[in-house]
Amino acid sequence: MPEVELPLNPSESVLGRILVIDDEAAIRDSLEVLLTLEGYAVTMAVDGVEGLKTLEHDSFDLLLLDLNLPGQSGLELLPIIKERHPELPVIMITAYGSVDNVVEAIRSGAVNFVQKPWDNEKLLADIRSAVALHRAEEENLQLKRTLKQRYNFSNIVGKSEIMLKVFDLVAQVAPSRSTVLIQGESGTGKELIAKAIHANSPRKDKPFVPINTGAMPSELLESTLFGHVKGAFTSAIATKKGLFEVANGGTLFMDEIATMGMDTQAKILRVLQDKRFMHLGGIQEMQVDVRIIAATNVDLRKEVREGRFREDLFYRLNVICVDLPPLRARREDVPLLSQHFLDFYANENGFEPRKLSADALRALVDYEWPGNVRELENAIERGVVLSSGPVIGSELLPGQITGRGFQDALLEHNPNATLFDILEVIERRIIIEKLERCNGNQTEAAEQFHIPLSTLNQKIKRLSIEIRKKSRE
Ligand SMILES: Nc1ncnc2c1ncn2[C@@H]1O[C@H](COP(=O)(O)OP(=O)(O)OP(=O)(O)O)[C@@H](O)[C@H]1O
Ligand SMILES: [Mg+2]
Repeated sequence: MPEVELPLNPSESVLGRILVIDDEAAIRDSLEVLLTLEGYAVTMAVDGVEGLKTLEHDSFDLLLLDLNLPGQSGLELLPIIKERHPELPVIMITAYGSVDNVVEAIRSGAVNFVQKPWDNEKLLADIRSAVALHRAEEENLQLKRTLKQRYNFSNIVGKSEIMLKVFDLVAQVAPSRSTVLIQGESGTGKELIAKAIHANSPRKDKPFVPINTGAMPSELLESTLFGHVKGAFTSAIATKKGLFEVANGGTLFMDEIATMGMDTQAKILRVLQDKRFMHLGGIQEMQVDVRIIAATNVDLRKEVREGRFREDLFYRLNVICVDLPPLRARREDVPLLSQHFLDFYANENGFEPRKLSADALRALVDYEWPGNVRELENAIERGVVLSSGPVIGSELLPGQITGRGFQDALLEHNPNATLFDILEVIERRIIIEKLERCNGNQTEAAEQFHIPLSTLNQKIKRLSIEIRKKSRE
């Protein structure tokens, strides 16, 4: 059979696909030139009927919709389009931009509003961010679908080469009984990967039991892992099962393995070798079938070299090693992860979907992420909670991410700023954030600050703080 060459996906080779619905030929022409030169693929429609037909057959990253169309107006058309294509971002264009129209269009789901005659740079910037975000959303959905189909990973996001390799490895090792060692900096997703290994194994209906071996003194850890008989130590008033028994048939996830004491390490080694252990103070040996997944955020080889971790245990654990790269080594995953967390936290807070402004997204991609995915998740959650509209701008991101600490920002504007000026800026910012969290309720904010309401009131006046209530669309 002759080889069939697959056509390139047209949306891969252009910046994005844009549909323009406008009845004025001059407007269509100027938009076509502007957008084509910029690298977009542009399709034109002269009215709602033609526009809707085009949307049936083709997919787009953005719709530019004229408000004042013959027949059905843009405002009438918008809810119909949003119902059929809820994921398509829409920017409205109008010469008659009254406040009422803006409000109605935004309510019906338009992401933005552009007035004729527009400023090309501003229009292009709005288009760029709408298209980039739409693409990230689509990609996210598609990836989730493939990852789910291929691996049954329902909540793990990643498209970087390095993470796709991790997913392959996870899928490969999951069905076996082999011990897995997951290494990665804090917040890189070690526990999430451990759960995915369990969920994709034949043990998935048996318990997944996590234990943080670093957080406990040796004796407590040993009694937690192996259980104890009555009277094994002073406080052992009854016989208690250990986690090895609880996890029987399933998976025991031993987190922060490097901090485990030498004595405990010896006992764990024994369970790994013989699958047998005894309750503390007991005499009877017990046999269990437990798969061990261990995790560490330090270099375990180095711990072995420096005599803090048993070499034999290291080799027992390190049958298969999954190395999770830090987030700064896979920046292409940042937009996807951001969108994933935006969806999650908007939904959790009962908000309409949230998007990031182009600035905010750029700051997130450029940041170093010492706290990795967990830090990103926290930043997005905070942005969603503080947001009062559909778009989250960079001002809602923590200062260390946007590179503008309070002090830097202030000194940039006023090199003569005193300590008191700086403190005032900080105080203002903290009060604004608290009020936003309390949805403008000053009594609640004063209570949380443990200060009288009158004091908070004075500060609000002195610092000219505007009280805003969050609209829950
Ligand atoms: N690839 C990913 N896709 C979606 N969410 C992720 C991903 N990686 C991490 N997360 C999320 O980030 C947070 C931190 O992940 P997790 O707890 O697995 O990290 P960790 O490596 O165990 O961190 P620590 O060393 O601090 O215990 C979790 O809420 C997790 O769901
Ligand atoms: Mg963890």
